[in-house]
Amino acid sequence: MLGDCNPDVLVLGSDVTPAFGQREKLVPGISLVIGGSAAITAVAAARLGLSVALAAAVGADPAGRFMLDQLAGEGVDVSAVVVRDGMPTGMTVALSQGEDRAILTALGAMASLTEADIPGVLLGRARHVHASSWFLLEDSLGPGLAGLLSAARTAGATTSLDTNWDPAGRWGGERLSAAIAQADVLLPNEAEALRLSGASGLEAAAAALTAAGPRLVVKLGERGALCADGPARQRVSLPPVVPADATGAGDCFNAGVIAGLLGGLPLSQAAALGCAVGALSTGAPGGTASCPDINAAAKLARQASVTSVP
Ligand SMILES: Nc1ncnc2c1ncn2[C@@H]1O[C@H](COP(=O)(O)OP(=O)(O)O)[C@@H](O)[C@H]1O
Ligand SMILES: [Mg+2]
Repeated sequence: MLGDCNPDVLVLGSDVTPAFGQREKLVPGISLVIGGSAAITAVAAARLGLSVALAAAVGADPAGRFMLDQLAGEGVDVSAVVVRDGMPTGMTVALSQGEDRAILTALGAMASLTEADIPGVLLGRARHVHASSWFLLEDSLGPGLAGLLSAARTAGATTSLDTNWDPAGRWGGERLSAAIAQADVLLPNEAEALRLSGASGLEAAAAALTAAGPRLVVKLGERGALCADGPARQRVSLPPVVPADATGAGDCFNAGVIAGLLGGLPLSQAAALGCAVGALSTGAPGGTASCPDINAAAKLARQASVTSVP
């Protein structure tokens, strides 16, 4: 996994809107948890039984140590997480109120990760290379990512990319197109798929994004996922769950898809495993608290319905 790694400060309650004017307001709960799309995907993949290493950048501070400890405790190899002196670890505060969330992020050291930080040995050994949060790392990892993914493929690995949301609202450019062309699988959610493609509907988005080379799995929240492989389309859905907190569901979904593909499943079955991991991950606050093991995920994935879209 390549990408972002930061603690999330999760504020949960029915009214978590801050009151300015130096007022203090009590909320039911605040917790410090593993955050960052790549870090959450790494933990979710490790829970599924994959052997996982994370390449990312943190600062030499308590927040960075928290992330390294938590990831190591989950069995993620953190030897390629660079610790930058004199830079703060990136951090997110997520105010979570029912289905809705407001998120504040300071990038800190996370946006200092470059191609030069990714050990070639690690890349050469990987069966799969996944990159997260393109838009947060566009100016650092961005210039080298297409080359890294291409090198990984040459060495026999498969690749995937989840750009996540673009806070700057620009949604792409030549460098991103080059990286997408080196991804075997692209993993956006629905809003991201529309913006990345500039299309006004999901089918047009799928056509545009697959034309660039990758297979596509679009995350559709409680509605499951859409798979696109060339001209073929399949909808995957699971019985609905009542989510406690959907933070990181998409990142956990990615881990399920990757585990499925590495296990030799066809794309729609890998997406079903992704849906199961995503759905189960919503069972507790935070990105990773309720990430399932492979048995629980596979059991739920067997309940998936897969339909071909004409
Ligand atoms: N309420 C829910 N019920 C069931 N599954 C869910 C729910 N929310 C998320 N998921 C699962 O997690 C996946 C990713 O969630 P989504 O919110 O679409 O992604 P992201 O977190 O990237 O925005 C969904 O495709 C789905 O499989
Ligand atoms: Mg996402």
